[in-house]
Amino acid sequence: MEHPLLGLSLAALGFTVLSFHVLRLVRVLVQTFLIPGISLNTYGAKRGAWAVVTGATDGIGKEFALQLAKKGFNVFLASRSPEKLGEVAGEIESNYGVKTKTYAIDFSKDDAASYAGLEAALTGLDVGVLVNNVGKGYEIPTNFLDYPQSEDSAIVTINISSVLRVTKLVLPGMIARKRGLVLNIGSFSGAFPSPMISVYSGSKAFLQAWSQCLSTELQGTGVEVELVNAYFVVSKLSKVSRPNLMAPTPKAYVASLLRKIGVPCGSLGRPGSVTPYWSHAVGDWFVQNYAPKGLLLGYINNMHKDIRRRALKKKERQAKKD
Ligand SMILES: NC(=O)c1ccc[n+]([C@@H]2O[C@H](COP(=O)([O-])OP(=O)(O)OC[C@H]3O[C@@H](n4cnc5c(N)ncnc54)[C@H](OP(=O)(O)O)[C@@H]3O)[C@@H](O)[C@H]2O)c1
Repeated sequence: MEHPLLGLSLAALGFTVLSFHVLRLVRVLVQTFLIPGISLNTYGAKRGAWAVVTGATDGIGKEFALQLAKKGFNVFLASRSPEKLGEVAGEIESNYGVKTKTYAIDFSKDDAASYAGLEAALTGLDVGVLVNNVGKGYEIPTNFLDYPQSEDSAIVTINISSVLRVTKLVLPGMIARKRGLVLNIGSFSGAFPSPMISVYSGSKAFLQAWSQCLSTELQGTGVEVELVNAYFVVSKLSKVSRPNLMAPTPKAYVASLLRKIGVPCGSLGRPGSVTPYWSHAVGDWFVQNYAPKGLLLGYINNMHKDIRRRALKKKERQAKKD
């Protein structure tokens, strides 16, 4: 070889870069499959503390309410429909022997009176966990200009304003008690801009940035803030009705998260962020680090176009049947 030193240097560089990437993947896998998260007892489970869950009557939020009750929290349920609130509260009290409180609120309204009522209902409660879960998505993927302004506003109000307002009510008590956990339910569409659900995608990107800022501001206070990166989960919102490799049931999804508090898993390298479910973790890590962003945007756009085309056809068939 004419330049043995150059060859050796290139090989050493290649080996170093490869080792760096392999080691990071190993860390993601070890965190996702082996490392346990912070115990929920740290936040007052079994000691009279409350978990506040928004959007707690269906899907992921209902599952948070049930599983946090099972872990020994009293549960405060804030959601839209009084009837469904009563049903979930009844299920919790009869199965887990903890206390519940319910508060009916339509987060799309953003009115001062509802939040004053919520503040009054929360007064005096030792809140250990807040799950900012409530969220609104698109009925069908739609281009920005074709989407009604009222729907844009509803998404922004529910997905952003409610999170800010509820957190402002709960956080001072957590800081005073020097313990608390705030989980903000985000989405892959916040991490990867998603055309045709652009306002939803932007609202979740807001949550991502805000959660990371808040988690940094609160370092040393005893309050942990986490943006929870969810890909598909079986629910009404996702319109996925059967679990598959990439879309777990809410029960499996929430269990995976509650086992991994404080462990980023697939969000490794993004402080204040966690991607706990194993297939989401591997996908998140891979796409964040290796997917060409421009190609990804085009791929998501085409995927949503296809979903829209199929959804409109289904609607048409349904209309003919009716
Ligand atoms: N499912 C997924 O694939 C997925 C993926 C990524 C992120 N996420 C996020 O996960 C969170 C939960 O989603 P999900 O799939 O569990 O949704 P879901 O099954 O549709 O449940 C939404 C819950 O929020 C309540 N809610 C909806 N609008 C409300 C309003 N205006 N005021 C008060 N409560 C309201 C609903 O109450 P009612 O019972 O009265 O309808 C229900 O309890 C959302 O933030 C969503 O963006 C979900």
